Amino acid sequence: MNDMKLLTVIIVVLSLISCSGPENSIKLSELDLAKMESGWGTARQDSSVTGSILSVAGKHFESGIGTHAISTFLIRLDKKGKRFSCLTGVDDGSDNSQGSVEFIIVGDQKVLWQSGIMKKGDSARKADVDIRGIEKLGLLVTDAGDGKNNDHADWVDGVITYKKEQPQSIDNKYIIEREEILTPPSPSEPRINGAKIYGAHPGSPFLYRIPATGKRPITFTASGLPEGLSLDQNSGVISGTTGTAGEYAVVIAAQNSFGSDERTLKIIAGDKLALTPPMGWNSWYIYYHRVSDSVMRLSADLMISSGMADYGYQYVNIDDCWAIKAGSDDPVIGGEMRGKNGELRTNKLFPDMKGLTDYIHGKGLKAGIYISPGPTTCAGYTGSYQHEQQDIRTFAEWGFDFLKYDWCSYGRIEKERTREAYIKPYKLMWDELQKIDRDIVLNLCQYGMGNVWEWGAEVGNCWRTTGDLGLVAGSSMPGFWYVGLSNSQHWEYAQPGGWNDPDYILIGWIRNALKKEMYQKADMTPNEQYAYMSMWSMMAAPLIYGGEMARLDAFTLNVLCNNEVIDVNQDILGKQAKIIRATKEELVMVKELEGGSYAVGLFSVSGDANTTVTDLVDEEANGLSDAKRELTDAADSFVWDEIPSPAKMTISASDLNISGKFSVRDLWRQKDLGIFENSFTTEVPFHGVKLLRINEVE
Ligand code: GLA
Repeated sequence: MNDMKLLTVIIVVLSLISCSGPENSIKLSELDLAKMESGWGTARQDSSVTGSILSVAGKHFESGIGTHAISTFLIRLDKKGKRFSCLTGVDDGSDNSQGSVEFIIVGDQKVLWQSGIMKKGDSARKADVDIRGIEKLGLLVTDAGDGKNNDHADWVDGVITYKKEQPQSIDNKYIIEREEILTPPSPSEPRINGAKIYGAHPGSPFLYRIPATGKRPITFTASGLPEGLSLDQNSGVISGTTGTAGEYAVVIAAQNSFGSDERTLKIIAGDKLALTPPMGWNSWYIYYHRVSDSVMRLSADLMISSGMADYGYQYVNIDDCWAIKAGSDDPVIGGEMRGKNGELRTNKLFPDMKGLTDYIHGKGLKAGIYISPGPTTCAGYTGSYQHEQQDIRTFAEWGFDFLKYDWCSYGRIEKERTREAYIKPYKLMWDELQKIDRDIVLNLCQYGMGNVWEWGAEVGNCWRTTGDLGLVAGSSMPGFWYVGLSNSQHWEYAQPGGWNDPDYILIGWIRNALKKEMYQKADMTPNEQYAYMSMWSMMAAPLIYGGEMARLDAFTLNVLCNNEVIDVNQDILGKQAKIIRATKEELVMVKELEGGSYAVGLFSVSGDANTTVTDLVDEEANGLSDAKRELTDAADSFVWDEIPSPAKMTISASDLNISGKFSVRDLWRQKDLGIFENSFTTEVPFHGVKLLRINEVE
């Protein structure tokens, strides 16, 4: 080679080096694994999730990450990456030989590589992908749609080559917002909260604890109580037997050393219950099959001590799993499903139902229970099929005030899928309920089948309109949004005594139904939680909290217990909000309130939130045992953007048919914002809400 040629070669090599920079590499397992979200526990470095050596199809590996399906790992490359290579497979230590998983590599919302469905014993599959120009790299392991998400999934021998800055793992969620508490603290002087109207059947036992905040002791008085009822002045509990049918305007007063409050409660002794949406707590999403007598008693205690009862929460409801589990040989939950005379039997976690309801009633609260019209419940416990009359009488004797009646296995009995067939089991129970002297609110749970909203009010007090909220995966918005949107379509059917039910409020600490009961803080930003509670309030939905009562923190309580927000939900007109505008950026709901006011919800949304038609009616029961989830779009498992700035949103007088000026009050902050003309514009935080009360003024 002559000098000229040598020089050219040197120049080419040097320029290649200077263009691309020196190449570095990092092992995947060296990244910060704390940021990896792994279904059943944390991911492990250089070992399987159980702590053993990484092993796929009998082959051992030194380096890699042991994780579960479902898991996500998001890595910031900032366009500095070059290649990513690794092997993937189900770990030999996986205890679920039937399980299947899929590994997917996503770069800036595009799928770069998919392993295909893999099972235990399949030899590791190799990925080697070009990651040049990519900002964020997402590694996803899915349960391959089989609902079994405890498989042990390994990313082994993973290496990222890059230039300049080293790749970093990042949180797969929007930047954590500060948990700003918007609800002002309740004043020391008494304030009577909750519904202004209450329905009861003449001749039935009556129980109503006046919800009131303010420093205790508070002394309560009531004038105009119908005959048969009396008030305990210290606890504010009205009890007795509802007398003659009629409307009674009862003036209730509450007094303490700081001041007093007074309001009229209209008691309507008639044929309707649940004149406003039921409020309370339900055990399902936090206790599942672990629910017990002591858990229920504790939750009742906490409903009082947390202050929730002072805002109107009153039902303490057992969900599934209190009865005998069919075919179980577990001495605690197994055994004969019914007694000699066909009577219901509880499992050993519920030794004394009457004692339990007495305990709950002793606090002025109400007790709820659950069963199915089929032979078994969704989780496989005793159902009411062919024992309906006997069971409802048992529930009445036990002292229950609320029944969730869950379709579940009834679909095996009734093969027809006609409207009549859907109505039949509920009508049967409803008719039985009318014959007994106990006020039991009937909650239909059949996931929206047969357009339940069109006939629910004839055979019940509230009806679930969709499948289980806890099983709806989030996409650009959290799962609740899609359920709420589906529920909102049925606004015209809501009425006093009959409510669309979009399932529970899952904020605070819950056990995630999608991640097989992982105990976790609900995965939503603070603004999303305000939006959740606002949407449910606007929709006149039952306000049933589904999280851990023993871990209610100040933020969660502030979301659940804002009296002005609850007033929107409990408004006596019983109207559900209408959506007046839904675009890619916003959703605007309007609810007519008593006295000509309007509640207006300005919600900021993103992505596909309002543009996809959401109908989450579920054709059959989908209890936890056979929960299925399909990930249709792998990219939706990751958060790709930074949190955007607040949106400007407007409500116009013409949207509300207001011709003159109007006053605007911010209900979360409980603050008057002023008098406006023509329109009102405000900033709404990303995925958040402004909930307003608007009144026309002279
Ligand atoms: C169904 C219901 C849930 C819950 C479970 C109990 O899935 O929709 O709300 O009651 O059953 O098994």
